[in-house]
Amino acid sequence: MAEGSWIAACQVDDIDPEDVVPFEHEGTDYAIYRSPADEFYATAGHCTHERELLCNGLVMDNIIECPKHNGRFDYATGEARGAPAIDDLQTYPVKVENGTVYLGIG
Ligand code: FES
Repeated sequence: MAEGSWIAACQVDDIDPEDVVPFEHEGTDYAIYRSPADEFYATAGHCTHERELLCNGLVMDNIIECPKHNGRFDYATGEARGAPAIDDLQTYPVKVENGTVYLGIG
């Protein structure tokens, strides 16, 4: 991926371990996750079931549980892991440099 396509999204300290925060860029919503092992991931901001915002969901290990109907996804791979979520989530590359979290969405 070209260097110019990384977008600064937030600071590392903006996300607690095992939590998720929202990020909006050019009208598109994203969700940024910090795993219990201090790794960072990003997915589309909306659930693939009925488009609920995932930033309001519950992070458990490597799973995000949607707050609306409790559908589950692996936020590292985007794989749908629990009904009623069937379609996988889009995932995005993430890198951390000097305490800033960048998404590969540009
Ligand atoms: S909107 Fe997410 S499980 Fe239904």
